[in-house]
Amino acid sequence: MSENPEVLRMRQEIARRRTFAIISHPDAGKTTLTEKLLLYGGAIQLAGAVKAKRGRASAVSDWMDIERERGISITSSVLQFPYRGMQMNLLDTPGHADFSEDTYRTLHAVDGAVMLLDCAKGVEAQTKKLFRVCKHRHMPIFTLVNKMDRPGREPFDLVGEVENVLGIGVYPITWPIYRGAQFRGVYHRLKKQVYLFAADKAGSSQAAGAEAIGFSVSGIDDPRLREEIGDDGYNQLRGETELLEMAGDELNMDRLMRGEVSPMFFGSAMNNFGIQPFLDTFIDLMPPPVSHLSSAGIVNPDDEFSGFVFKIQANMDKAHRDRVAFLRICSGKFERGMKVKHVRSDKAIRLANPTTFLAQERTIVDEAFAGDVIGIYDPGIFEIGDTITVDKTLQYEEIPSFAPEHFARCVMIDPMRRKQLKKGLEQLAQEGTIQLYRPPAGREGDTILGAVGRLQLEVVQHRLKGEYDVQLRLEPLACEFARWVSRKDGAEVDLGAFDRERVGIPVVDLRGRSVVLFQGEWQLGTAERVFPDIEFAETARGVVSRK
Ligand code: G4P
Repeated sequence: MSENPEVLRMRQEIARRRTFAIISHPDAGKTTLTEKLLLYGGAIQLAGAVKAKRGRASAVSDWMDIERERGISITSSVLQFPYRGMQMNLLDTPGHADFSEDTYRTLHAVDGAVMLLDCAKGVEAQTKKLFRVCKHRHMPIFTLVNKMDRPGREPFDLVGEVENVLGIGVYPITWPIYRGAQFRGVYHRLKKQVYLFAADKAGSSQAAGAEAIGFSVSGIDDPRLREEIGDDGYNQLRGETELLEMAGDELNMDRLMRGEVSPMFFGSAMNNFGIQPFLDTFIDLMPPPVSHLSSAGIVNPDDEFSGFVFKIQANMDKAHRDRVAFLRICSGKFERGMKVKHVRSDKAIRLANPTTFLAQERTIVDEAFAGDVIGIYDPGIFEIGDTITVDKTLQYEEIPSFAPEHFARCVMIDPMRRKQLKKGLEQLAQEGTIQLYRPPAGREGDTILGAVGRLQLEVVQHRLKGEYDVQLRLEPLACEFARWVSRKDGAEVDLGAFDRERVGIPVVDLRGRSVVLFQGEWQLGTAERVFPDIEFAETARGVVSRK
């Protein structure tokens, strides 16, 4: 091991990185929580700056016209902020019901996730989908139950739901003291500390990221606790924490790291109740950047510079019509102007003006470390999943294509612009905005577009018109999902058989892989029965379990 001061500094920098995403269903409070985290980090001055909901003034990720028109955020952004000596990298995942494949891909670029639940609603549909991607990656998942200031479900009920619905163990770290309008604070089981929030402070704390009053107790028997929270609250807390202790398990760090057990916290993002105790414990338990698997074996965070592209965004700057590739650095130190190797094309490129994303501005970055995400100018050479190294030939694990849930037939309005349409669609597919399907070889038919979120189809129409001057009619297809099909014995799939049996629509994806589109679970079930030799995968690479 070298004692080189540069290497030591690099290791220190990497050790203080925490790269994560928040997964939640719309309205659970992700925007509110993000604002509070940024406030604690001192990265923004005013609440309300993160997302421009209709009527709000400004937004961080408000890059595209269509976003502005709708007042929602389509693309994810990267928020960096310091907190207690740590460098937090929060990769935002679009929270609207019409989220996109980018949301899934972003989860491939983080080292852990915070699962935010609304205490009245528990585990909701979108949370489940995002959770499955996290679970598949075996990464730590922290559960934060929000809106505890409002009437909601019983905490034990929520613990049970996460365990049963998501199939993961839960270890409550904080536990609420009273609920709803009486919610007073949380008891931290590991620290044996009580954090109380003065009711009259609730209003003012909204604006300032206020610190809660926390005090230590020697344990649940400390008489001061009863004095502070009153008999009712004390008896309830005591009874409930005894039940938790009876469950008997310790927080097993290995299981946490593999995403088999989730530490749970309670709070109210809006009122800042319980958010700081959460954040403090989160930075302790959340791992710094971990090793990555590559075609050349394990790459450790302190190895020389390498990373992969997990997202490509066009049009971030209207004036330049540029594309930006988002690079997750997996190892080493990045320096501005660095000469690197683009592994897929085997070309040397110079990363001249990389950007970093600090709250509202894009700023030029001079150096970055494993765990960070940088935006690099893309002259049109990058694809999702591309690996970049100093000079080594290695490839990081492919980011799978996720099964779209919305499909449309692509009908040209002006046949004279066929070429532009083809170019535009291929460009957008390369960026990962949509997936393209063609009829299998030797068959006539329209191109079919597939998207994880319905809004993506509108984005395609909007961008084709704005950037390629192509008008397009999209005819929705009554299909619910796609499956990549392969034969268990490795032989080629006879796609014509699906036509003959009248189950699903057989197509091929951009890379020529066989895909079948289905109208619903029932039709997939039929296909599974009719074709027992065929495997139906939910992603282009492997299978993420259904449910
Ligand atoms: P999202 O990004 O996950 O979609 O959720 P967002 O933060 O926008 O929150 C959704 C609604 O829930 C907002 O109310 C927000 O104020 C509220 N909320 C968030 N956290 C809490 C909490 O801890 N307690 C309570 N009681 N409410 C919370 P809204 O009326 O839709 O918007 P706004 O007018 O307040 O901005």
